[in-house]
Amino acid sequence: MSPTKTLADPIDVMGRLLSFEGKQDPYPLYEQMRAHGPVVDVGGAHLFVTGHAECARALREPDLLSTDAAVQDARLPGWREHASWSWLTKNMLFSNDPAHERYRRFFSSAFSARSVKAWRPLVERRAAYAVERVARLAAGGEVVDLVAEFSFPMAAGVIGELLGIPDEDHDAFRADVGDITLTLEPIRDMGQLTAGDAAMERLAVYFHDLVARRRAHPTTDLTSSFTAARDTGGELSETELVANLMLLLVAATEAPQDLLSNMVRLALTHPAQAERLRTEPDFAAGFTDETLRFDPAAQILNRVASRDLDFFGVKVAQGVPLTLLIAAGNRDPRRFTNPDVFDPARRDNSPLTFSGGAHFCLGAALARMSAETAVPLLLRRLPGLRLAGEATFRDQIVQRGHGRLPVTTD
Ligand code: HEM
Repeated sequence: MSPTKTLADPIDVMGRLLSFEGKQDPYPLYEQMRAHGPVVDVGGAHLFVTGHAECARALREPDLLSTDAAVQDARLPGWREHASWSWLTKNMLFSNDPAHERYRRFFSSAFSARSVKAWRPLVERRAAYAVERVARLAAGGEVVDLVAEFSFPMAAGVIGELLGIPDEDHDAFRADVGDITLTLEPIRDMGQLTAGDAAMERLAVYFHDLVARRRAHPTTDLTSSFTAARDTGGELSETELVANLMLLLVAATEAPQDLLSNMVRLALTHPAQAERLRTEPDFAAGFTDETLRFDPAAQILNRVASRDLDFFGVKVAQGVPLTLLIAAGNRDPRRFTNPDVFDPARRDNSPLTFSGGAHFCLGAALARMSAETAVPLLLRRLPGLRLAGEATFRDQIVQRGHGRLPVTTD
């Protein structure tokens, strides 16, 4: 038998990846996909990109489009009846130029390196709050869900305060944010969008109202400054403003929450590394990057060819989708030595997890600073923290993270 005959069919492997069991431990499945090569061409109809260099290049290729309204028209008939995707295609992530450029220009200066530095006291205060919440709840040896009591309050606290969302509203939007991220999963049945549609409608009402309130009584939050900039500059419609505010909330809640939970789990399962996190302030940056590489909160990105093109020797026809398995690229042995080893001291790390090119994550620096602040603080404050049961992952692969992460303290 030739070696290629032993390879599992890529479509079967993807099917297993999309099962609940596959999502619990997707890495062996990514390896099986990588065995087909860095670019897997499924009969010219679909490409799966598994290599690090190939994913990085795809993200920077102007002829590979993000899933905007025109792409959805071709791929998901009926999507316009769904509030989730109707709103998503009005934000910068699911747009292409010229709209993307216009949105990105409008919002990006608020996330400059200078702004992020100025937010450090806010991040430290929110981290202290989240850590004390866990300390209080775990004080009597109780089992505490780290996702609900630490990762979510930390992530939502930071973006909520920046956007001016009152603390008492944070818990109410937790489920809505989760339901919206479900609409990013591969869609096999439109019923999958129902919960996300309702969540998006609720959030849209909320943000329309917040914008109106800040217009009437501006404060120092980002919603006030974006609303004022929109009203004077006119570069954005009110709907586009609301759509991108919702993106900021969702993007800055779910993935940062998952990063925090993954970091804590990896620290608790690697005690020597946890000790270094407690004692060496400079260790946190490498630990964060390695978590992003090893167990990424975002695992799959989608692109579509805007014209016929050649991609690493593979002919790609206009309209063909490319599924970028960035979590597979993060473990590409051509790029990383011992890719299956969690090594926070790794040099020259370059996870694909914040994307690249035009859509490179606008909140990457904020997410890093939040994680590097909150996780070492938690480990120092609760040196006896340990896992207290099975850590399961949600039934999601695009945005992968723990549903619950039970912990306790001695
Ligand atoms: C661990 C945390 C985070 C991860 C893993 C993450 C991941 C990503 C990825 C993969 C993309 C691009 C997707 C693509 O190219 O198709 C992206 C875009 C984006 N992210 Fe993040 N993100 C995180 C945190 C944040 C935070 C904290 C914010 C906001 C403050 C944020 C705001 C955005 C925005 C606005 C975009 C769209 C950028 C554009 O299309 O130009 N993200 N993020």
